[in-house]
Amino acid sequence: MAIFQKTNKGVHYSRAGKAGQAVVFIHGFLEDIRMWEGFIHRVPDYSVIKVDLPGFGQSSVQTPISIAGYAQSVKEVLDIEGIKKAILIGHSMGGYTAMAFAKKYPVMLKGISLFHSQPYPDTPENKVKRKKSALFIEKHGGSAYVKATIPNLFAPAFAKKNPKIIKKVIQYGIKTSPEAIIAAIYAMQNRIDTSDILAQLDIPVQFIIGTEDIAIPEANSLRQTTLPNVADVHILKNIGHMGHLEATAKTKRIIRDFIRFV
Ligand code: MLT
Repeated sequence: MAIFQKTNKGVHYSRAGKAGQAVVFIHGFLEDIRMWEGFIHRVPDYSVIKVDLPGFGQSSVQTPISIAGYAQSVKEVLDIEGIKKAILIGHSMGGYTAMAFAKKYPVMLKGISLFHSQPYPDTPENKVKRKKSALFIEKHGGSAYVKATIPNLFAPAFAKKNPKIIKKVIQYGIKTSPEAIIAAIYAMQNRIDTSDILAQLDIPVQFIIGTEDIAIPEANSLRQTTLPNVADVHILKNIGHMGHLEATAKTKRIIRDFIRFV
């Protein structure tokens, strides 16, 4: 059974297991720990920790916030739980957070899985899009933005066949406050390039890539795989940005194998 807790700063998380090393799941933008519901709950020799980043799920909003700030909230959780070594599994914005964590606390890491993510910063065009998104939310509200954004994260064929899953993810996402969404948009817009960190890290790095992911450009997805010393690369055909929901059994197996390898 997982135990749910909140830190003094209002960061909500769950922990299952008692081991002093952990596998830590960090969700992406507009997500929270419920996104890992059908996913990995127990890992031999590891505790499993799932964090709601500030402003998402049941964590308090912190605004403004940076990706480094999200990483700090993960560190706070690990300190409270007495975790000295961890494997971080970061989905998209959660991967940006994992890389910010790696920059500051490399000795705490045993491995990183960049799950539909990347170390590169926003392009100038992307920064403009972020600003437009923030303005859209100010004008039309967070729900309209969530409803318009979520369906595009899935591969079109999957979205067509699985409207209930899309609906569920939207239902979770629309609970996020507009302030938290806007704070995350600016955090992503201002994130720094961590590709140099990825190249220096002396731990295995996993990459899970969807060929139909519109959030992470294909060129970046592929380019990053040559950076680490040890890379475990999985290119999933016909999968979009949401491999944990689009190909649950496969991505669970890939991550379990990585944890065993690390
Ligand atoms: C995410 O899923 O976390 C975001 O789509 C990532 C991004 O917009 O860069």
